[in-house]
Amino acid sequence: MGRYTDAQFSQLRVLDPRVWPSRILIRYLAALLFLVFLIANFTFWDPPFDLPELHSPLGRDTDHHPIRKLINDARAAHHEKLSRRSHNINDAAQRYRAARGRHPPPGFDRWFQAALDCDAVIVEDYFDRIYKDLTPWWALDPATIKSRAHSWPWVVRVRDGNATGDGNTEGRVPWLQLWTDLVQDFAEHLPEVDMPINYMDEPRLLVPFQKVAELVDQEQRERVMPSPELVTTQFEGLAKVDAAKPDKYDPTWSGPDKQYWNLAVKACSPDSPAHAVKAMADYRAPAQFPPNYHPPYAYQGYVANWTAAMDPCEQPHLRGLHGSFVEPISLSSTDEFIPLFGGSKLPINNEILIPGAMYLTDDEFYSGGDSPGPKWSKKKTGVVWRGDASGGRARPQTWHHLHRHRLIDMLNATSVEAAEQGQGRTMTFELPDTSLYDSPHTVQRTLAAWIRDFADVGFVRMCPPGECDFIFEHYSEIESKPMQEQYEYKFLPDADGNSFSARFRGFLRSTSLPLKATIYAEWHDDRLTPWLHFVPLDNTFRDLYPALEFFSGSRAGDRAARFIAEHGQRWSEKVLRHEDMRLYVWRLLLEWARVCDQNRHSLGYVGDLK
Ligand SMILES: *[C@@H]1O[C@H](CO)[C@@H](O)[C@H](O)[C@H]1NC(C)=O
Ligand SMILES: *[C@@H]1O[C@H](CO)[C@@H](O)[C@H](O)[C@H]1NC(C)=O
Ligand SMILES: *[C@@H]1O[C@H](CO)[C@@H](O)[C@H](O)[C@H]1NC(C)=O
Repeated sequence: MGRYTDAQFSQLRVLDPRVWPSRILIRYLAALLFLVFLIANFTFWDPPFDLPELHSPLGRDTDHHPIRKLINDARAAHHEKLSRRSHNINDAAQRYRAARGRHPPPGFDRWFQAALDCDAVIVEDYFDRIYKDLTPWWALDPATIKSRAHSWPWVVRVRDGNATGDGNTEGRVPWLQLWTDLVQDFAEHLPEVDMPINYMDEPRLLVPFQKVAELVDQEQRERVMPSPELVTTQFEGLAKVDAAKPDKYDPTWSGPDKQYWNLAVKACSPDSPAHAVKAMADYRAPAQFPPNYHPPYAYQGYVANWTAAMDPCEQPHLRGLHGSFVEPISLSSTDEFIPLFGGSKLPINNEILIPGAMYLTDDEFYSGGDSPGPKWSKKKTGVVWRGDASGGRARPQTWHHLHRHRLIDMLNATSVEAAEQGQGRTMTFELPDTSLYDSPHTVQRTLAAWIRDFADVGFVRMCPPGECDFIFEHYSEIESKPMQEQYEYKFLPDADGNSFSARFRGFLRSTSLPLKATIYAEWHDDRLTPWLHFVPLDNTFRDLYPALEFFSGSRAGDRAARFIAEHGQRWSEKVLRHEDMRLYVWRLLLEWARVCDQNRHSLGYVGDLK
């Protein structure tokens, strides 16, 4: 037999009838698939904005805008944190020890397995809140804590691996049930524990700064990491306190005869600007804004440090610019440590945070339902807000100091027009300082004309009938709008109510862009990155117009808005799921059970060290 040259050989193969049909078929199929892919892309795919665009020259106006820098910094900070994600129990336990100076609590391995099972993003920093909240408890007597937790009127109790809600909830919101259901999900993996819960909207614990500082000091001095053979996993349990049935412990409560601001600033550090600043004596004058305001937490007028921006101790002017300080709807506060869990609090309150009960409901008013809204290009370029006139009690001499009332007035074209034609301000707000902010509409005096088209906002309910007739001179009640319809707009401002707004999670999960100002801390704060997942606003709202103008005024701004909206939505599908709230509370209750135990210093998980 002769031998073929290479060329002849390959020709042969092509001509070989056993080879060529399948080859050509594969090529045709590949080409066809590619075509289908292209068509599908153009038809169904709305290309997501991605950050490289931010670096390209998209218009001189936005190239050097401070918001660009803030977005880029946010992205870097987020990725830096995320690079410390734990994928196995050994890494997770080591990172725990490095961050907390203790062994993880018993049951940590089961908890971590549950996190793996639902593909949760576990970064130690995402749980910092738990340790901020629990630190002082390590310096308090466990028997006393247990007995006070046990005797509170509303308690989620875990016994024999079952959770029950204990308390009279007749005529009240269903929070006890919602939280009990959440805990029941993993109760079989918990030691016996009592979780007493706050049934008011407003937080109730304000321990003076000095007292907290002493406890935090003591915790640090006593913190130990015993060698593995000395570590136990046996909780003592709650049989003793169950048998003792302690009477309800009631500390002294301060009521509405006190001004909340005066109670609150006692919890501020002596070197903070708000310490020793007294509540306003007279609210009749228009709301006052700090002049030449360059707070350390801002970069060129925009919020750069979210933690500081929500801290009233840093902002004495909030005494006259937030309803929680002007006059809360209800006030019942103590300066003693009693164990209490709640959905939100001021950074200076001493409650232990859990996800707000409203985040656990299927109620579409809060959750926004199943659909995240239309894609960005189908949305109206405008801002929408609906809600109650909550967030403080409105009186004829105080209404203009309330934060929600300010937000709505700032987005009311009639009011804005009055400001533009008059003194540059109304009772509730001032026009932005154009030496600090780039606000073309303010400069050109076209704010009112712009707002008229751009904003669709208003209160749906002012107050119980007859309680605030005077207010209708300034506001009208308008038709409510389901969340689904709100998601048809690009911009969703979010403002505190009597405490946190409870809609933030829904807004984040939507395809629209949330813009948020708050003084209330929540469980999820350490896992969200402002300027990457939402737009942070100052509590004065002085950055509101300039931010909205940036995001709606150019193609580059629109891309940036969409970038944040989509990143926020994708991220919330990863770290704000029901599973994530469950994991947060699970871990918190392991810690709480340990801190309530006589043997708390030797309880731990050391399985990875053996
Ligand atoms: C929880 O309580 C239910 C009903 O009382 C009971 O059937 C179940 O066995 C309990 N679960 C555990 C783990 O004890
Ligand atoms: C932000 O502010 C907080 C509270 O004032 C402070 O502890 C923290 O170090 C600041 N973070 C940065 C990155 O500056
Ligand atoms: C807007 O402001 C005007 C003037 O204060 C007021 O009459 C009107 O009711 C306000 N609109 C809404 C929706 O609150």
